[in-house]
Amino acid sequence: LHRINIAIDGPAGAGKSTVARMVAKALQYIYVDTGAMYRAVTLKALESGLPIEDNDRVGRLANELDIVLLPGVDSQRVLVNGEDVSLRLRSLEINRSVSYVARLETVRARMADLQRRMALEKGVVMDGRDIGTHVLPNAELKVFLTASPRERASRRFRELGPEAGITLGQLEKEISERDRLDQEREIAPLLQASDARLIDSTGRTVDEVVEEIVQWGLAAA
Ligand code: C5P
Repeated sequence: LHRINIAIDGPAGAGKSTVARMVAKALQYIYVDTGAMYRAVTLKALESGLPIEDNDRVGRLANELDIVLLPGVDSQRVLVNGEDVSLRLRSLEINRSVSYVARLETVRARMADLQRRMALEKGVVMDGRDIGTHVLPNAELKVFLTASPRERASRRFRELGPEAGITLGQLEKEISERDRLDQEREIAPLLQASDARLIDSTGRTVDEVVEEIVQWGLAAA
């Protein structure tokens, strides 16, 4: 069996990262969470007080950041200039800002370049929004993973817990707003690649979805 690259794209909260991590584990591949990279740039832009829609300044920042993804026990760890920022990437503030940063051409060019380098040796499961369409258009297996908006919001709601201080309804609204921004942006929008296989995970277990993708992966290898 030779190693392949697997692209998993889809809207927010569809379970991409859980599924991608488990597929990578089953195939002994490397998992790359590209959303975490956009989140890391957003964190640093907010910390530096930059206007997050400033293409030049945020782009320059993104170019200077050393972003390293390390496989962790439960989830991947993210180091930015040597500092572990993993636990700070999932805040509501970053959720609300990240799609504005991800619209910037400078930022996308830098992220895509880093991501392609990570996939050069194959054996990568990469999740994101534009992996099958832009970053790895030659990936041997492409999956577009989705679920109903209500189900995606409920999953996030359970993850966040009541302490997060946001209602299920608000969360559903914020998720659709992020999807709208991701779908409507000019560069590399969220879109199912024409050669991607669609999985709607509504009402299906994680294990079923993982098993399906692993079988496809083995068949494509
Ligand atoms: O996957 P996650 O929800 O962590 O992604 C956060 C945000 O990063 C997305 O809403 C999107 O704006 C951006 N993103 C992107 N392209 C990717 C991955 C994420 O634009 N490949």
